[in-house]
Amino acid sequence: MTAAADPVVEVLISEAEIAERVTGLATEIARSEPEDLLIVVILKGSFVFAADLIRALDRAGAKPQVDFMTLSSYGEGTRSKGTVTLSRDISEDVTGRNVLIVDDILESGRTLLAARDLLSMRGAVSVKTCLLLDKSANREVAIEADFIGFEIGDRFVIGYGLDLAHRYRGLPYIGAVRGD
Ligand code: IMP
Ligand code: MG
Repeated sequence: MTAAADPVVEVLISEAEIAERVTGLATEIARSEPEDLLIVVILKGSFVFAADLIRALDRAGAKPQVDFMTLSSYGEGTRSKGTVTLSRDISEDVTGRNVLIVDDILESGRTLLAARDLLSMRGAVSVKTCLLLDKSANREVAIEADFIGFEIGDRFVIGYGLDLAHRYRGLPYIGAVRGD
């Protein structure tokens, strides 16, 4: 059975659409690139997006440093638990740095707000944000991203790094769970 025929998954954004948009985002970021950029990738959901984005940035002429932070708010369900937990920190010192946070989905906004506040508090000069997906209908705190890949509705999505209970991260497209 092919992944696309998986009865629980409906394709929302195709592999080709993602590739085109990632190139577009990299062009926008490279154009606005401040000196000495540090990308902070929020794990785990954005690892596939970040891998494609940093290679697209390289093609666009940007050579950022990259570090990783693990934040979680979902546990194993399909609804946010509401508290953001930091379980792996970056190793770089952000004092005086221009930082770009890269994450998978902006939903309630709590994860991005927690990450942005933490990096600003530690002395980053600027903290910009790049999100693959925006579920703006579910926003609960006031925060918007500087760079957005796609706006989506209130569906639980999987694939391209996004998981349902740690599965489906390897799908090459972004899909929705049928019935969600
Ligand atoms: P927020 O803190 O409510 O904005 O949630 C953002 C985080 O929740 C994202 O970084 C994702 O890890 C996770 N998340 C939100 N919606 C989905 C989804 O539809 N599929 C998989 N993970 C999601
Ligand atoms: Mg996440």
